[in-house]
Amino acid sequence: MTFKDQMDRQMDRMMLRDSYGRPIRDLRISITDRCNFRCFYCMPAEAMEWQPKSEILSYEEILALSELFVSLGVDKLRVTGGEPMLRRDLESLIERLARLPGLCDLALTTNAHFLRNRAKALKDAGLRRITVSLDSLDPERFALLTGRNELAQVLDGIDAAIEAGLKPVKVNSVVIRGVNDDQAVAFAAYARERGVSVRFIEFMPLDNGKVWRREMVVPGEELRARINDVYALERVKQDNPSETARRWRFADGAPGEVGFINPVTQPFCGHCSRIRLTADGMIRTCLFSTVEHNIKKLLRQGADRERIVEFIRATVDKKEERHHINDPEFVQPLRTMSCIGG
Ligand code: GTP
Ligand code: 5AD
Ligand code: SF4
Repeated sequence: MTFKDQMDRQMDRMMLRDSYGRPIRDLRISITDRCNFRCFYCMPAEAMEWQPKSEILSYEEILALSELFVSLGVDKLRVTGGEPMLRRDLESLIERLARLPGLCDLALTTNAHFLRNRAKALKDAGLRRITVSLDSLDPERFALLTGRNELAQVLDGIDAAIEAGLKPVKVNSVVIRGVNDDQAVAFAAYARERGVSVRFIEFMPLDNGKVWRREMVVPGEELRARINDVYALERVKQDNPSETARRWRFADGAPGEVGFINPVTQPFCGHCSRIRLTADGMIRTCLFSTVEHNIKKLLRQGADRERIVEFIRATVDKKEERHHINDPEFVQPLRTMSCIGG
């Protein structure tokens, strides 16, 4: 056996794996529960109770935990919120995360409201790429969906990310029947025009107002057919089985692509490599977990590295096999996306 083989085996032994054999390689870190938008499916318009600052993980704590996860084989970090740009000096966190040895990918999910003036600094800090949440290209509908009349600012923020080279720029659009499902072709045209990847996400029961109904879910396949009627699509070859999106490019060679994230009609839990850290320091092993694992407590008690690693392994071992959205006994988790991070 060569030295490289030995190292690979050693790494494989150290790597986090859940009880179903799925390797955990993707940590999603929510750094704040606050947001300046009020997307109705995520956060209610009335006053939210924010977590007190003392409960929110400091950058030092986030960094310490990220370092541990990366040493255990996590190679992809996504910083989310709430709106992560509301947190002071995000660039300094990005800069320190980007330096973690062994990290292959560092991405940020944002509503892009503050992106115009920050895209370049984020790129310079070591951010690789960005994903923008945007559910409508129509200004009035955008205002209705987000509670803010700021579509132009968001579109300008996306352009700034493209200019800064935060590639690939991805746009995430949650589709709700009767609300924005007429926008699919317009989004495809936008993807072609800007060379971005637009992903349509099936609405999941993670909303604050508990408005989710099955009839509101638009199957990704339905949207793909509608787009395909206007712009012929070709499947993109995908090697990574844990990718959430089924990706399609334009057959005429136009730039950009469209993707379909279909957690309701085509669940992808079998290859899930994701784990989440909430802004208040809880590990969530699934978007739909009904229990959380308090790693902050351990950290603040001054537990040593070995003890925290043991806690992480034991937690990963409890990762749920799959979500139960389609089962009659489904129970909606108490915390919504704004706390969990997308
Ligand atoms: P990329 O590597 O950029 O493609 O990231 P990603 O595929 O993980 O996508 P992203 O972080 O942009 O997530 C997009 C959306 O997919 C989220 O906002 C969720 O709605 C949904 N999603 C992401 N991860 C999961 C997951 O593990 N389970 C389920 N059910 N949905 C998910
Ligand atoms: N269903 C699906 N996706 C959601 N997001 C927020 N709430 C939901 C939901 N109920 C996504 C948004 C955003 C990310 C943070 O989470 O599109 O991109
Ligand atoms: Fe993974 Fe849970 Fe999402 Fe399924 S629902 S893909 S198990 S996080």
